[in-house]
Amino acid sequence: MAETHDMHEKMDLATSPDIWEQGGPVEDWTTDYDIRDEGYIEDPVPIWAEMRDKCPVAHTDRLGGSWNPTRFDDVREMAKMIPELSSRQVLVMPPAPNAPELSRYEQQIAAAPITADPPMHGWTRRMLLPAFAPRAVTQYQDYTEGLCHELIDGFIGAGRCDGAVDYSQQIPPRVIAHLIGVDPGMAEQFVEWVNWVLGEGLHEPEKRLRARDELLEFIGKEVELRLQDPQEDLLTELLFMEVDDPEANVTPEVVVGITNLLIVAGIDTTWSSIGSALWHLGTYPDDRRRLLEEPELLPIATEEFLRYYAPVTMARIAETDIDFKGAHIKRGDKILMNFPAACHDPEHFENPDEFIIDRARNRHVAFGSGIHRCAGSNLARLEMNTAIRVWLERIPEFEVSDREPMKWAGGQVRGPRVMPMSFPPGQQQ
Ligand code: HEM
Repeated sequence: MAETHDMHEKMDLATSPDIWEQGGPVEDWTTDYDIRDEGYIEDPVPIWAEMRDKCPVAHTDRLGGSWNPTRFDDVREMAKMIPELSSRQVLVMPPAPNAPELSRYEQQIAAAPITADPPMHGWTRRMLLPAFAPRAVTQYQDYTEGLCHELIDGFIGAGRCDGAVDYSQQIPPRVIAHLIGVDPGMAEQFVEWVNWVLGEGLHEPEKRLRARDELLEFIGKEVELRLQDPQEDLLTELLFMEVDDPEANVTPEVVVGITNLLIVAGIDTTWSSIGSALWHLGTYPDDRRRLLEEPELLPIATEEFLRYYAPVTMARIAETDIDFKGAHIKRGDKILMNFPAACHDPEHFENPDEFIIDRARNRHVAFGSGIHRCAGSNLARLEMNTAIRVWLERIPEFEVSDREPMKWAGGQVRGPRVMPMSFPPGQQQ
């Protein structure tokens, strides 16, 4: 395992443009991994197996340096290492060179609760939980279902579509806009912002910064409007919420951060999961037929889609030096919470690299583990189940086509971004 840098060296590195350079192909995945590597983005499963086997907490100097645990138990243990590992920087890439320096408080409220550590984490998370409880999210069922039909109406006659762009990508941004209480017509704009904040922004720090500023400005204006003229929506509810916690300090800035998180966390993740599920069904006809014959299997299949194609890898920053299973982590180092790799650990899953549509024991960590476990998992499952069910009802016969190459997004959220689909035109219109 390679040497690490200390905090000051790391800050200097972050301001150096060299840090963004790709740095050539990876020769050793245990000492020099690159989450931007094309092979890793397309199929990380065999690479995780090699890393887990040879060096379960691997290190790289790329992107300013980070650690990458790939075993289930290690990821779960590290997710619980609080306060040693902080969530105030959940992106592995360093801030853009010209990004304003944020105080510890500003880092924590930027997208609370995901960027917050205790005690702020506790009360910001509690502000969100009621809106995402299992019963509460059922109110979005009809809207999601109607939306899926409407999208399919738009392309079913043509016998082809881009399953990522025309379908998967369209659903979560509209559901989130609807949930927060902003214009669903903003969906396209949300997709663009989120793409720059989390996706392609991995390569272009300037654009990432600009997208983040635009998104925050948009939310700031929506907050301002509701402070003057309260509405019946989640944004207003959050702004005027009374939180029974002596630590709580609900300011408009905190609500801007929470809304920022809902847009970023609620969109890229779920669209990636819907896309991966459709890619799987369009690539493996036996599984598609099985779901058509046994539609009641869908919720179990959804858990396997979540496990096998787990999209989300968030990061932590070490607040102190830590020796963990042979890794000498230094204060200021980044650590990837590699939940997707944990979901393929043979110590926890039988034949982990096999997709088993009716897998019986499936205690996956696609939604994370510990205090930051996904607060939106009930909504995510509802969207996935609805999107897949409606697609199969309307378009039972389909395949991923080779008329143009597939494109996967990788980095910290993995899923299809270009996915040509073909089907006999005019099925179940
Ligand atoms: C399939 C879709 C999704 C996946 C795989 C997913 C995954 C995750 C993961 C792994 C975390 C933990 C991150 C960490 O430990 O740093 C997380 C946190 C979070 N997610 Fe999701 N997510 C999904 C959809 C959603 C949706 C739809 C929403 C809501 C709109 C949402 C809201 C959140 C929030 C608020 C947190 C922070 C929780 C906390 O810090 O206490 N997620 N998600």
